[in-house]
Formats: sequence, C-alpha cells, structure tokens
Amino acid sequence: MALSNSIFLKDGTAQGVAKQRLIETLAEPDKRVIIDTHAERFVIGASFVKLMGHKLNVWLAQKIAPGFHEHIISRTRFIDELIKTSSTDGAEQYVILGAGYDLRAHRLNLPSSLRIFEVDQPEVQNRKRSKLPKELLNSTNVTYVTVDFTHQSLTKQLVDAGFNRRKSTIFTLEGVSQYITKEAISSTIQEIASLTQAASSTFFISYVDESLEKNPEACFGKGYPKAAKRAKLITNLSAKAGEPWISFYSAEEIESLLSQNGYSVKENVTLENLNSHYFAPVGRALPENEIFKLEHFVVAQSHFGSKPIE
Ligand SMILES: C[S@@+](CC[C@H](N)C(=O)[O-])C[C@H]1O[C@@H](n2cnc3c(N)ncnc32)[C@H](O)[C@@H]1O
Repeated sequence: MALSNSIFLKDGTAQGVAKQRLIETLAEPDKRVIIDTHAERFVIGASFVKLMGHKLNVWLAQKIAPGFHEHIISRTRFIDELIKTSSTDGAEQYVILGAGYDLRAHRLNLPSSLRIFEVDQPEVQNRKRSKLPKELLNSTNVTYVTVDFTHQSLTKQLVDAGFNRRKSTIFTLEGVSQYITKEAISSTIQEIASLTQAASSTFFISYVDESLEKNPEACFGKGYPKAAKRAKLITNLSAKAGEPWISFYSAEEIESLLSQNGYSVKENVTLENLNSHYFAPVGRALPENEIFKLEHFVVAQSHFGSKPIE
C-alpha cells in the first residue's frame, strides 16, 4: 500500500511500537518488563487492546511472529537502562533520534538537569504533541526538533534548538535504521560525530540483520517455526503500514561505519542475550524456538572529548 493510501500519517510504525508498550503495560505489575502509561494515547483501537488484556494480545502476537512483542520490549528496556545509567554517570544531554511516540523523557525518573532533544518528522511530532497531556508538554528540559534525516541537516536543527557541543551526550536511534537509506544513516552518524568532537558521546543504534533477506533461519532461534515465511510477513506488514524496511546490515558493516566516525562498539546484543535478564526473572523466558533475534542493539562510545560518560 502506498503511503498516500495508508490510514497512517507517517506514524504507522511509531504506533506499532507504542502498541507493544501498551500491551506490556497491561501485564500484572510483577510480570511486566517496562511500563508506559501514556502509550495508549497514540494507538488506534487502544480501548480494544485494553479490553483484550496482556495475555490475549501476547498470545495473538505469538501466533503472528513468536517473540516479536518481547523483542520490542527488550529493546525498550535495554535503552531505558542505558539512559538511566548514562544520566547518573554524567551525560548532560540526551538526543532521541526518530523519537516517535517514545515517552522515555517522561517515563523514566531522569535528572531534571538532563537536557532532552526529541527529533522526528514534523507530522509525527505534531501528532505526538497534540496528544500529550499539557503538564508533560511543558516540561522545561524537553525540546522538540523536527528533522527529516533523508534531506535535512541534523546539525543545523539541533544547534538552532540549543544543543551544546561541549556537553557529554547520549544519542539513541531506536527502530529507525531499517526505514531509511544507508546514505541517510551514514550522514546522520557523521553529523553526530562532528557535533560531539569537543565532548564525550555514546551512540545507540538498532539495526536489522542482513540475514533476514539472505538466510532467514539465521535470524531466529533454533527451530523457529516457518522462519522464511515469517520473515516475509514481518517485512510485508511494515510496508503495509506505509514504511517498508529498506536497509539491512551486517555486524561488520555497522562496526566499520561507527569506527570511521570515531566510535567503538561496546555492546551488540539481541533478544537472545536479553531474554534471561528481562523475561526469566518475571517467569516469561522464551524457549529457543520463539527467539526473535533479527534486530541488534548496539552501544558505541566515541573516542573524542575529555570526559567519558561512564
Ligand atoms: C518504528 S518508529 C520508532 C519510534 C521510536 N523510536 C520508538 O521506538 O518508539 C520509527 C520512527 O522513525 C521516524 N522516521 C522514519 N523516517 C524518518 C526520517 N526520514 N526522518 C526522521 N524520522 C524518521 C518515524 O517518524 C518514526 O517515529
């Protein structure tokens, strides 16, 4: 379906992720891995999702793509922990690239001194701002910055919005790299590197493994049912929401892209690594044949600046 025919205004995938956070929020408090009480504001049909409840929604998600829900939730939790640690350890600015309906700026109890920049396309950001409660919108430490990574300069927009090149910063690009060209990712990382020459910075990027196209079985856990068919279904669903997955990477490619720009990879994990940390303690560990590991979560640290964040 072409974007113009879609019911979503560039926000189909942002809604999709918010829906998974809503589903997780519906779990019993001692069973959930993250909580996002505002997610429902951004999900079409939220009342129906709430009526179905956590268990039924997760069961349904398992039927479509085992592990998909847990993969999104593990990504959210992984970044939540990264941001909490980085802000405690001295990060002064946090730039959320492709923020969508991410409520991390308000969900986590972050220090009020942390300056947060939310970056996204104007259509998505306007919708987000129209749905947020007034008291959250007025938070003085959050600044909204509109950028289209494919044809606008992140540097100009961020600096105009008050980004300070001398402050230690953490950037996250969560669930975005698959939707934009490799050229746009490369120029965004170059801009981030040049913006942070005078201070330390940490960069998080998630990316879809290139084996999704080349060898789908390798993208899932051993025994994952109908891997090739599921890989196709997942990419088709995204295209239907108006935002097809167009860019896939190998670990070497990401590592080289980051190192060319002065970053070294500190961590590269998937749901396979996080399952035992997040889901086992609440009695929801996935068996190997339900592990959905096609997306990688990477943390890289810059070589610049005199004050390391950690
Ligand atoms: C799957 S959503 C992820 C949203 C958010 N990071 C999260 O995890 O909840 C992808 C986000 O990337 C944004 N995006 C896609 N293409 C973009 C572009 N060319 N420039 C800026 N943002 C873009 C979308 O608007 C959307 O908010």
